[in-house]
Amino acid sequence: MQKNRMIIACLLVSISTATATLAADKDNRQTLTLSEAQRSHVLEEMRALLSGTRDILAALAADDMASVSRYARPLGLGMAHKAEDHLKSVLPKEFMQLGMSLHQDFDQIAADAESKKDPKLTLRQLSDAMTKCVACHDAYQIQTTSLLSQPVQAKEQGHHHQH
Ligand code: HEC
Repeated sequence: MQKNRMIIACLLVSISTATATLAADKDNRQTLTLSEAQRSHVLEEMRALLSGTRDILAALAADDMASVSRYARPLGLGMAHKAEDHLKSVLPKEFMQLGMSLHQDFDQIAADAESKKDPKLTLRQLSDAMTKCVACHDAYQIQTTSLLSQPVQAKEQGHHHQH
């Protein structure tokens, strides 16, 4: 009985180790093929999400709930409506839904920071919202149509010379 349990435990450990190794070796994320302009638009929005999130954290650390709201607002649905129309046709429905739901979270964070002024609540909402950053980054990568035609050059750019 005891021995069987040991064997099963060992099997489980080796299976999960093998899975982790495979995941690290191969990029299994779904590839989105975008034009250079579309990619640049998505990545610009991403950098705004990162710096906005940083600003919200800094405001939280200073107990400045008015600034939390001010920094969260531009990351809300307003951000999405600005330019997402021309991306809707090229991005998968699931991708758009995840993005929209994240923007909604930031609207909620802005509204609650204003009305409830509860830093702990904001922190909880922010960490919940950020599971969407993590989920989407785990699922997708972007490739541009121009990179497709120059695979060698793209590789060399990432190469670091040793001196
Ligand atoms: C709906 C999908 C989705 C969500 C949600 C999402 N991202 Fe991204 N993000 C992407 C994709 C796709 C890339 C490009 C990844 C790649 O090609 O390897 C990216 C790239 C980035 C980059 C790199 C930008 C650059 O200039 O290279 C940053 C920073 C980033 N995301 C931050 C965030 C943060 C912070 C959040 C949450 C607050 C978030 N993202 C939520 C899809 C998403």
